Amino acid sequence: MPFLSDTLARVKPSPTIAVSNLAADLKAQGKDVIGLGAGEPDFDTPQNIKDAAIAAIVAGKTKYTAVDGIPELKKAICAKFKRDNDLDYTPAQVTVGTGGKQILYNALMATLNPGDEVIIPAPYWVSYPDMVLLAGGTPVFVEGPSQNGYKITPEDLEAAITPNTKWFIFNSPSNPTGAGYTAAELKGLTDVLMRHPHVWVMTDDMYEHLVYDDYEFATPAQVEPRLYDRTLTCNGVSKAYAMTGWRIGYAAGPVELIKAMGKVQSQSTSNPCSVSQWAAVEALNGPQDYIATNNEMFKRRRDLVVSMLSEIEGMDCPVPEGAFYVYPSIAGLIGKTTAAGTLIDTDETFAKALLEETGVAVVFGGAFGLSPAFRISYATADETLREACTRIQRFCAALT
Ligand SMILES: Cc1ncc(COP(=O)(O)O)c(C=O)c1O
Repeated sequence: MPFLSDTLARVKPSPTIAVSNLAADLKAQGKDVIGLGAGEPDFDTPQNIKDAAIAAIVAGKTKYTAVDGIPELKKAICAKFKRDNDLDYTPAQVTVGTGGKQILYNALMATLNPGDEVIIPAPYWVSYPDMVLLAGGTPVFVEGPSQNGYKITPEDLEAAITPNTKWFIFNSPSNPTGAGYTAAELKGLTDVLMRHPHVWVMTDDMYEHLVYDDYEFATPAQVEPRLYDRTLTCNGVSKAYAMTGWRIGYAAGPVELIKAMGKVQSQSTSNPCSVSQWAAVEALNGPQDYIATNNEMFKRRRDLVVSMLSEIEGMDCPVPEGAFYVYPSIAGLIGKTTAAGTLIDTDETFAKALLEETGVAVVFGGAFGLSPAFRISYATADETLREACTRIQRFCAALT
């Protein structure tokens, strides 16, 4: 009898965490490594949020809470959905978990049966397919190629839907590409979903606030109100408020689904950290002005990276609408050989050689389901990014 479960054999560990670990190991060995793999803002959590957490500790708010969130946070989340998305939710329609990751996991665990299909546009956030597999479902991928700004079309979505489709996972702006669908583009997708009433929408709006230029964020239930009854709108405080370590994510949707998600959580982790919940209340109810200040920095960094990578022959770097990632295609570099003699046959070889020969750690596109490409997280200091891009330019210039 095998000791480990068959379910576990179907999933792989997060490749993005693997890159961060490898970069940290090389750094510990004294190598000059620039890690561009991590998906978190380099900014500190704002002081008002830290103060709210400290006040919560001092006031003894350190005990178990309701499994799916304190009433004060649920109220703040309802207010956020109204303010930012013009969506009406009551606290009974809201659930809070230990990060957006747990929220998505709870939803999939609560709903998937063997044979259920989940449509995932590729490139995708690394955890979607493996969470679907862990929950016993089948991921179905739809490619959004670089020529289409890494977005899928309504026709692509229509073609992927079968009688077994349970969920369509939507993520805009996207990790790993930063691609953001306009309301009109999203309407094209929701029109398809209106023709298939058995398909539910899980929208991962984690990067809602990290958007640049004149791009305007839109979410499915807002663009197509008739989808409200079969949409789970997921979000969290990790990215917009630089709170990745606090582990608070949330979602709103139909009460029966929210209750089912709470049931999963009640038998796994119980409530998210009480102190973090109070910090999240302050994040959502407090001043929001630093988001715009941070975005100015992110935009400057995005422009720096895109312009430096666009100078490289054989690399195609679309300008992302949001998040803090760029996803250059390296189709023009496949088949070349590095200065140290490595043949670049895949994006994985490219990323490995780049790390070994220049010390720049990026995540290869294969990890996100669309090759050949790689992801850079530009949530790091301008000088570091300039140095990293200079090294990438040199590495590519030496390819023969
Ligand atoms: C697209 C996307 N969704 C969800 C998450 C999970 O965020 P958290 O669990 O920190 O709330 C991440 C984090 O990288 C992400 O990029």
